[in-house]
Amino acid sequence: MIDIKNVFKVYKMGTEKLKVLDDVSVNIKKGEFVAIVGPSGSGKSTLMNIIGGLDTPTKGEVFIDGENISKYNDKQMSRFRNNKIGFVFQSFNLEPTLTALENVMLPLMFSGTSEKERKERAINSLSLVELSDRGKHKPTELSGGQRQRVSIARALVTNPKIILADEPTGNLDSKSGKNIMDILQGFKSQGYTIVMVTHNPEEASYADRVIEIQDGAIEEEV
Ligand SMILES: Nc1ncnc2c1ncn2[C@@H]1O[C@H](COP(=O)(O)OP(=O)(O)OP(=O)(O)O)[C@@H](O)[C@H]1O
Ligand SMILES: [Mg+2]
Repeated sequence: MIDIKNVFKVYKMGTEKLKVLDDVSVNIKKGEFVAIVGPSGSGKSTLMNIIGGLDTPTKGEVFIDGENISKYNDKQMSRFRNNKIGFVFQSFNLEPTLTALENVMLPLMFSGTSEKERKERAINSLSLVELSDRGKHKPTELSGGQRQRVSIARALVTNPKIILADEPTGNLDSKSGKNIMDILQGFKSQGYTIVMVTHNPEEASYADRVIEIQDGAIEEEV
């Protein structure tokens, strides 16, 4: 499902070159739940963003669900993201002026889905994270764990193949964090491919496989 071949990411900072990903190759199969761990600044988010088409490699190839996205232009990339990827971020990234239901409907704005269908799908998505009774709440009227569940519902509403979660529990207490992990694990059994960045060894143990990154290179696979 995810095949990353010899990917490099280099940032030019003035005259200096900062090698953030250094010849990374990863293969993740359909239905796998993979955790990415490693020190701060090691390149975890950069790798996630490249998998999800939010960033492009300096060199190397990225095949996602059979598509070679490495050379996609902006338009191709946003279509790819909308069709195949569901993102969950540490900081939730919800639209503060919209209700939970409207936030979940948002990714469907760009796919030509009717308002009625968008609403139905968002309601269904909210029920999957057990938030049917909070659709009218704005993000500030929700707990941290509930906000993250809304963002998971938003990630799922487009029916993606892959869920990318970058420290999804980073801003949550341990009880809400466990709840999010249980939800992600539940999705694995439904066939989603899940890639999650975490600093927490207990959370990494939910995954089928743990990939450790150090200084932009894959150090170890467990
Ligand atoms: N746009 C950019 N320009 C220059 N350097 C960048 C840019 N984005 C990230 N970096 C650098 O790339 C390195 C990897 O960043 P990345 O965000 O992938 O780390 P990370 O492993 O996710 O860290 P953390 O655990 O703190 O989230 C860091 O040293 C960072 O300073
Ligand atoms: Mg990061």
